[in-house]
Amino acid sequence: MSSLTFISRPVSSGDSINGELRVPGDKSISHRSVMLGAIAEGVTEVSGFLQGDDNLATVNAFRAMGVNIEQGNDTELSITGVGLHGLQAPQKTLDLGNSGTSIRLLSGLLAGQKFDSVLTGDASLLKRPMRRVTLPLAEMGADIATVEGGMPPLSISAVSSLNAIDYLMPVASAQVKSCLILAALYAEGVSRIIEPAPTRDHTERMLAGFGCSVGRDGDTVVVNPEGARLSACKVDVPADISSAAFFLVAASIVPGSDLLLKHVGINPTRIGVINILMQMGANIEIISEREIGGEPVADIRVRYAQLNGIHIPEDQVPLAIDEFPVLFIAAACAEGETILTGAEELRVKESDRIQSMVDGLLAIGVKAVAQDDGIIIQGGGDISGGEVDSHGDHRIAMAFTMAGLVSAGAITIRDCSNVNTSFPDFIGLARQVGVDVESV
Ligand code: S3P
Repeated sequence: MSSLTFISRPVSSGDSINGELRVPGDKSISHRSVMLGAIAEGVTEVSGFLQGDDNLATVNAFRAMGVNIEQGNDTELSITGVGLHGLQAPQKTLDLGNSGTSIRLLSGLLAGQKFDSVLTGDASLLKRPMRRVTLPLAEMGADIATVEGGMPPLSISAVSSLNAIDYLMPVASAQVKSCLILAALYAEGVSRIIEPAPTRDHTERMLAGFGCSVGRDGDTVVVNPEGARLSACKVDVPADISSAAFFLVAASIVPGSDLLLKHVGINPTRIGVINILMQMGANIEIISEREIGGEPVADIRVRYAQLNGIHIPEDQVPLAIDEFPVLFIAAACAEGETILTGAEELRVKESDRIQSMVDGLLAIGVKAVAQDDGIIIQGGGDISGGEVDSHGDHRIAMAFTMAGLVSAGAITIRDCSNVNTSFPDFIGLARQVGVDVESV
């Protein structure tokens, strides 16, 4: 398979990151719009949808289960829901590509169906842990086989019903929580899912928008499936803060920068990247905060600032879980040491993000040491340029693109095709605000 290489070059002296940008739609919210739209009654209209490969894998899975999904323009979808009990047996294995969110949420939705299904994915997905979902689903009475070690493919067998569950999640994971919420809609009795720390709550918010609220009691989500039904609605997907994060860091590290990021989702369970950057001294302003479709949205202005290394508070880890690759680049540019602990989850993302980042940082002359559950980065030294491997991980590729802005020479980044999983036209948008990157 051919793979893209990115070459990111330092900004010329006097140049900076400037202008206005609306990054593509939120990946997590886009997935959920398709899933909930599919099991709702009526036609759900989605705007701002992210046409990334991960979300298209979700769309294709539901099409294979008999759901009519039409694409309007680039970012609009129209989903004709089949109701909670209207999905049809897929005639083929559902291939979810690189998408952990698709496979984990779908495993919950499909665990209680009266048909068999098989879920698989690409080489990276086949290495990702699924016991975190298959164990609690088995407790609910689901019949799911994995390959050795609890990895996909997942073979889900038809069941006549599921039992409710009372479950304290061992990891703070929105994918596990959402998986169990979806399964609980098909169970008999009231389920309680307890989070060890707050995680993104898009599923809960969107279910309310579909007229099917779940309860919340402190750290517990309460799902009562009695009489549950979802009614189609309009979903307006905000720009993805996880994609905006690359530009928050870009503008923060290039002197003279002043950038406005438009219509960004600022759900409190997602803003760890803003909290952490501000604690490092970033100049970030939240402008015209508003609520759209149950999700808070704002424009974000970011200007250059001298950053300082910090010990990242562990309570921010689940709130910034996808943004650490680019936060490590911010740390490399900050004065002093940055320490991250309590983030062992980074080892089981699209790649082992602690190892991928340490290897890449060392390759461009930044002192970084891997820890079991985090990293230590010595900031403020020179970034030399050089060659790094993204390990097929979209966020590693985009993070090192931003390091190239302030390196002495070009950074060549290998294996970048998967940037399309979350950020189609990353190169085009990045160039628009002054990032000198090309793909070859
Ligand atoms: C996601 C949850 C997070 C995140 C992923 C998307 C979601 O995963 O890393 O990119 O949409 O629920 P975990 O739940 O495994 O932390």
